[in-house]
Parts: sequence; structure tokens; C-alpha cells
Amino acid sequence: MQIALSNKPPKESLELSFITHMPANSKLFKMLEKAGFNLKEGTTYLDVHHNILYVASRSLCSEDLKISAAKAIQSIQKSSFMTLFIALEQYQDQLDVAALAEGLILGDYYFSQYKHESQKHQERKLFIDYSGSMHTKHHLEEILHEVDMICRNVNLVRDIVNTPPQDYYPYIMALDAKYFAKRDGLECKILGEHLMQEMGMHALLSVGRASVHESQLIHLTYRSENPKVKIVLLGKGLTYDSGGLSLKSSDSMVSMKCDKAGGSAVLGVMCTLKALGLECEVHGIIGAVENMIGGNAYKPDDVLRAKNGMTIEVKNTDAEGRLVLADCLCYAQDEIEDFDYIFDFATLTGASIVALGGQTIAVMGHNDTLKEKINTAASQSGELVGFLPYNRYFEHDLDSEIADMVNTASSRSGGAITASLFLDRFIKDENKKKWLHFDMAGPAYSQKAWGYNPYGASGAGVRLIVQFLKNIAQKSL
Ligand code: BES
Ligand code: ZN
Ligand code: ZN
Repeated sequence: MQIALSNKPPKESLELSFITHMPANSKLFKMLEKAGFNLKEGTTYLDVHHNILYVASRSLCSEDLKISAAKAIQSIQKSSFMTLFIALEQYQDQLDVAALAEGLILGDYYFSQYKHESQKHQERKLFIDYSGSMHTKHHLEEILHEVDMICRNVNLVRDIVNTPPQDYYPYIMALDAKYFAKRDGLECKILGEHLMQEMGMHALLSVGRASVHESQLIHLTYRSENPKVKIVLLGKGLTYDSGGLSLKSSDSMVSMKCDKAGGSAVLGVMCTLKALGLECEVHGIIGAVENMIGGNAYKPDDVLRAKNGMTIEVKNTDAEGRLVLADCLCYAQDEIEDFDYIFDFATLTGASIVALGGQTIAVMGHNDTLKEKINTAASQSGELVGFLPYNRYFEHDLDSEIADMVNTASSRSGGAITASLFLDRFIKDENKKKWLHFDMAGPAYSQKAWGYNPYGASGAGVRLIVQFLKNIAQKSL
């Protein structure tokens, strides 16, 4: 979806009209009612005589508008209408232009790379007629540029996560990182298995050992001229999670290409920083690994030594994400000095979906003030977060008889929390309050479209973190 400002909408374009209420006695509403239109969110009616697409919206702002804009664009995806226009004057400046653009760009996404040529997705174009609006052209351009940059990168993350595992494996993720780094002037370090071996990252390496694809650690760095804040973002980049020898069932293995969503979200954030000119230093670290079976696979009962020397007794090879992240956390804390925050993103546990449902990111950590900042960024960005609490009774759930810890607790209950507490064991004392863990197993990927998110990958995490960074590192005017 491309969006442009123009006071002269092109001929043949379809007018977009948002309806929030149905006043009685109006000719228009009588016509709409007759056509079966109602106010249920996202209901559309295409008036082909006047080239107007009506869409019901709960309101003209934020999430309501994003959802109805997405429904509107989806309703004409199979039609021949390629250009749309909207006149701001009609809404007396009550229409949230940023939300409109976001809903349209995110709603217009369709992963068609593997479809026949005739079925490929075609980008539509929207012209915004701003005559009679209080906003200046410059102001609207700024808003649209920012939304466009963020949402394009959300769609990029969706593309990466949706790409099948035979075409997207750790080396490809590293190639992508190198490409983005060159394009945006980021520093890029890639560590292959040999270097990780030298560094003692045996937890990560064990997970990838049975794969034909070499594991990669990706480290991207963005530095603005006057950084106000320094942050480390870590991502679980399991390009496929078969479960390993603790093999997943056929049903739960389907869609496990989504296990790279955390790492992909980190890539997506790294790609927006330069364009938004945020005043910060951001390190993006991704453990890109494939969890497979084979004669040399790591096994339940193995004891692995992580980079910091801690030993881990493997109880379940399907709890692999935490092993990969453990070594990434050690690497980050050893290599990067004096950061303000360290966040990790992972499709870590099915238990987080049981706890919070399929739309909400589970956030855990020790710093309530920091959680509050994330909560604010979530409500501003439209992503959903929920906070899961630690308590003292979890403390010994990861104790091992023969090693420093086990990789899964014996009880499944509170699984998202015990996974987080496993990671906590790799956070140095001085960094405890700087750390938050984001379990995005719920919203990262869905078999059913929701709101402005399509079937498949949602690009979860990007808008939330970019909003958080905007709140703490926005360029002063
Ligand atoms: N990648 C999965 C978690 C997952 C589940 C992601 C559903 C997306 C959707 C993770 O590696 C995993 O398998 N976790 C296990 C942990 C268990 C063995 C303690 C789980 O959640 O069942
Ligand atoms: Zn797993
Ligand atoms: Zn996994």
C-alpha cells in the first residue's frame, strides 16, 4: 500500500468513507440500511454507482480506525480498484491519519511469494485529499513517512517469518542482516560455529548440531551521533523447531517456521532506526539456529556448558530457545559495556499462550518502572502486553541433581514463568533491573487473521519496541 497526499484525487479512484454512527432520516443511511450495511466493526458496502467504499468503524481513532481501514482494504483485494482516496475535510480533522495509514499498510499485506504469478499481491495506492484540513502538508508528510517506515518493516518481518524453512535458514538470516547493515550503515558481526566454539557457546551450538545448516550469531549495531540511551535487543531465531529428539507431534510441528519471530522482530527494529533518526545506540543480537533430529543430535540427559560456565542438564530438547538465548545473553553482557536496557524476544513457550491468549505478548522481569514504560509504549503502539509475576515458590523448580540447572521444570504449570526464570539465571546481578523478557509465542503467528493482522506472521514486537525507543530517544526539535 502506498500513500500520498494530493488535493486532486485521480479519476477512477474509489472514495473511502468511514461510518461511525447512523443518524436517522438521512438519505445516505436509508440507502446503506437498504443495502444491508450495519455498524458492526469492519462491515463494508461498495457503492459501485458512485465509486464509494463505506466501512463501519467504532471511532475515527487508533485501534478502531486501524481495524476498519484494514477490513476496507481487504474487502477490495480481489477487485480491480487499484487507487483509493479519502477527503480529510469530511471528518473535520477528527480522523487519525497515522492510524488510517497504519491500518491500510498492515491490512493490505498478503504473503504471495509462493503463489502463481496471476495470484501475486498487487499494492494499492491511497491519495489523501488534505484541503480544508487544519494540518499542514509538511506535518502530514512527516506523520506518513514515519508510519510508512515502521509498517514496511513490520511487513518485512512478516515476510521473513512466513518464508518456509527450506528457504530461510540461519545463513540466510545472516545474509539478510549483512544486507540491511550495508544499506543502513550499521555495524555487522557474524559468528559462525567455529568462533562460537572458541567462545564456549555450547548451549547454543548443541541445539543446532543435528542441522545441516550452520548456526549463526548475528550482532548488528546502530549508533546515532548523540545517543541518549544504549539498549541491547536479543532475538530467538529458530529458523525451524522440530523439537529435536523430544520431537513435536505432527500437529504442533506445523507452523514452527514461526520460531524465528523474535530474531526477525529484532531485525525489523534495526531496519527502522536510521530512517526515524532516533538518538540511541542499539545492539541487535540474534541466535539463528535450526533444531533438528539426527545421529549427532543433542539428547535429553546431556549436560551442556554455557558460555558463562554454567552447566545445564537437558530434560527436553524442545525447550531449545532458552538454551540459545542463554548463550546470547552471556555474549551480550560480555561484549557490550554500560547498556541501559537489555530485552529479549522469543516465541518461547506454548504456556504463554495458555496464560494470556493468542494476541498478547507476555512480559517478565524484575523492574516495575520499566514494565510501566513498556505498558505505555504498548498502548500507544496498539500491541498487547500482559505481565506475568515471579514468586519465591518457583525458585527451586530448575534445580538439577547433577548440574547447575535443568532446562525445563518438572511441572508444566507456570511454564512461561519458569522459562523466564531460566533466562534470569544468565542475567548478571548488575543487569537484573535492566532486563525484560518478551514471550511472543501467542501473537507472533496465527492460523486465523485478527484485526489488521493476516493469517500467518504478524510482525509482533516491532511497533512496540520502536514506540518504546521513540519515547526515550526521540530527536529533540
Ligand atoms: N517454539 C516453542 C514454543 C512455541 C509454541 C512457539 C507455540 C510458538 C507457538 C518452544 O521451543 C517449545 O517447544 N517450548 C516448549 C517448552 C516445553 C518443552 C517446556 C512448549 O512450550 O511446549
Ligand atoms: Zn521447542
Ligand atoms: Zn522453539
